[in-house]
Amino acid sequence: MKVFAYGIREDEKPALKDWEAKNPDVEVEYTDQLLTPETAKMAKGADSAVVYQQLDYTKETLQALADAGVKNMSLRNVGTDNIDFDAAKELGFHISNVPVYSPNAIAEHSMIQLSRLLRRTKPMDNKVAKHDLRWAPTIGREMRMQTVGIIGTGHIGRVAINILKGFGAKVIAYDKFPNPELQKEGLYVDTLDELYAQADAISLYVPGVPENVHMINKESIAKMKDGVVIVNVARGNLMDLDAVIDGLNSGKISDFAMDVYEHEVGLFNKDWSGKEFPDPKIADLIARENVLVTPHIAFYTTKAVSEMVHQSFDAAVSFAKGETPAIAVKF
Ligand code: COI
Repeated sequence: MKVFAYGIREDEKPALKDWEAKNPDVEVEYTDQLLTPETAKMAKGADSAVVYQQLDYTKETLQALADAGVKNMSLRNVGTDNIDFDAAKELGFHISNVPVYSPNAIAEHSMIQLSRLLRRTKPMDNKVAKHDLRWAPTIGREMRMQTVGIIGTGHIGRVAINILKGFGAKVIAYDKFPNPELQKEGLYVDTLDELYAQADAISLYVPGVPENVHMINKESIAKMKDGVVIVNVARGNLMDLDAVIDGLNSGKISDFAMDVYEHEVGLFNKDWSGKEFPDPKIADLIARENVLVTPHIAFYTTKAVSEMVHQSFDAAVSFAKGETPAIAVKF
């Protein structure tokens, strides 16, 4: 049995080595290149391909992989919003993702960013770096004084709620499909509008599916409290970034942390030092003291990376054996 993996990074190699040692019967080949219509032929002869979400997996890409004889595709990440599922269905693909690799990785990052915004660590660090050790005017706010609105209470949102409880914050939550345990605790509000009206800070944990695209826009921001803090570690397409920038300019949004950006492919996870950013919006946001930009690193922990490799390769083997892994995507 053979598995071919695309886009393998240096930091994934220890986990891959570990998986290979546990699965000596499986031949593994990999490349650091991403799956494209051009690189699809590299997988020829493999039973399954393992990929991760970077580029769009269009009909052309899937057709090229099918032409190479591979119709089992296991993603090493959770998001599937880059896949043309109509084409995948038509071509007879089997696809899996890794829906739960480490909710803590993402939830922790979001709450660290929220804490940093509230305690204004960016302007304070900037002052300290310039040897200005005065307190004022960089005064912070306490987490326990905030009502934090959690949008999306899946695995990640629920870890974020537990972290917030540790801080003593008041949590309110919204989900189209409420979690029974949280329902008993009475954390849910009935509508997003209620959450917008009550929350001092809002953090998002919903997928970038069509119905959620640009849910944070001019109209929804207008419904939020003046001086709201927003954290987005979920998906870039959840926000109309121009509306967020307008909100920052007017002061409606006091602070903002983004780990994801609608146009992040080709920008994030690249070294731009000494060069101008190709995207002036990102350059502007990075320069602001009340904005924290991180390049899609919420997931990026040793635990998460190891889970992503192990679970995706296990699923690839399962497909190759003609089985349906528990993490197969239904489409
Ligand atoms: C995901 O798992 O979907 C992520 O956002 C992580 C990234 C490697 C694409």
